[in-house]
Parts: sequence; structure tokens; C-alpha cells
Amino acid sequence: MSKSDLTAAEAIRTRRSIKSFKSDPIPEPVLQELLSLMQDAPSSWNFQPTRVVMIRSKEQKEALSAAAWHQKQILDAPVTFVFAASIRGWEKHMDLILEDGSKSGAWPQKFTDFIRENAPGFQRALGEREREYAIKDAMIMATTLAIAAQAKGYGNCYINGWDELKVKQIIGAEGDKNIAIALVLPVGVPITYPKHPGRLHSSKTIFTDRLPSPLI
Ligand SMILES: Cc1cc2nc3c(=O)[nH]c(=O)nc-3n(C[C@H](O)[C@H](O)[C@H](O)COP(=O)(O)O)c2cc1C
Repeated sequence: MSKSDLTAAEAIRTRRSIKSFKSDPIPEPVLQELLSLMQDAPSSWNFQPTRVVMIRSKEQKEALSAAAWHQKQILDAPVTFVFAASIRGWEKHMDLILEDGSKSGAWPQKFTDFIRENAPGFQRALGEREREYAIKDAMIMATTLAIAAQAKGYGNCYINGWDELKVKQIIGAEGDKNIAIALVLPVGVPITYPKHPGRLHSSKTIFTDRLPSPLI
């Protein structure tokens, strides 16, 4: 990160859901740093199930916007990130991930053995929830990118309003049951910053030890 970047606290406080972007491109070195920061996001077992597609061409933007109830941010932003999750990607990459953990010195043999012995069973026992778990990881990566981009002066908007089948078709994953779509995130220079719409009072959302009963 450079000296002019916002701090994490500043980025969190100033981020808003941007509805209109300038078409200015994100300079390549900034984009590369954002990608690198995004890739540093953690994931369950470090299995890294997130697959990110950058939508940059006019045709793909139009198709994605149409799949997202014609939300204009996707047409305007220079890059829109589609965060997909490869639900069973770990089956292909687990050996490489364990090798990396071992080579870096971060994970002792005992730990890699533990993962090799336990993670596959844990994943399979999740059943249908394996999709949900992969999506959690993808959302963490998307949030990491959103805050990093904000820190560097690029606004963004979390977008959930889309048709999953259509988005999968657009990114080339039509009919692939292993792929789930987590989030769409246009990133660019904001034209206008919306006002903060407010949050519920913390007394309604933050508790210690247990939820209150009845829940307020
Ligand atoms: C998971 C998620 C999905 C969202 N989907 C959309 C969306 O499809 N379109 C949109 O304009 N805003 C979307 N939003 C933005 C929210 O409406 C916005 O975050 C909320 O109103 C709070 O405003 P703020 O982000 O400016 O603080 C989404 C936000 C989140 C976190």
C-alpha cells in the first residue's frame, strides 16, 4: 500500500455503495496491486475456492448488466468483478496448497498431515452446505477487494441482484454444478458519493455471550 492510501479504518468509514462511475480505467499497476491484495484473503483450510472473473469488454458488461436487472453501475465501471466459488476446487488443489504451506515453513508436517486426513471428511460431511462454505470464502475475498479499492480511491458496490444461471452463462460456467456465484462488484472512480443511509443501533445488533430472549 502507498502512503496516500486510506487507512483500513478510513476506507471502512468512507465506503458507500456507488451507483455511478466514471469510465476512467484503473491504471494497470493499481489494478495489479488490488488483485494481489485481494488474493491475500484467507479461506477455510486455505483451500482458496474463489474464482474471480474481471468483466471489462463492452459486450460482457452489457450481458452482465442485463443479467443483473440492468443495473447501470456494471455498464459504467471500468471493471466489474464476478466472484464465483469452485465448490470442489479443493479436490484438485489440496496437494499443491499443502506443499506451499510446507515449503513456506508456515505449516509443520504434523499440520499438513492433519489437514490431509481431516479436511476431505469435513468437506464431504458438509453435504449441500459445501456451497455455502465456499461462498463464505468468496465473500471474504470480495470484501477484501472492496476495502482495498476504497483505500486506493476506487469506489465499488456489492451487488446481489442478478440471475445466477445467466451470470454463470456469461462467465462460461453454464451447467457447471461445481460453480456458485457469490457476488458481483463493479469498481471504479465514483461520480457521486451517496450519503450514509445509517445502521441499526448497536443495542439491536451486538450482544455479549448470548442473544437476548426474546430477540429484539
Ligand atoms: C451482499 C450485498 C448485496 C447488495 N446488492 C445490491 C444490489 O444488487 N444493487 C445495489 O444497488 N446495491 C446493493 N447492495 C448495496 C446495499 O444496498 C448497501 O450496502 C446498503 O444500502 C448500505 O449502504 P452503503 O453500502 O452505502 O453503506 C448490496 C449490498 C450487499 C452487502
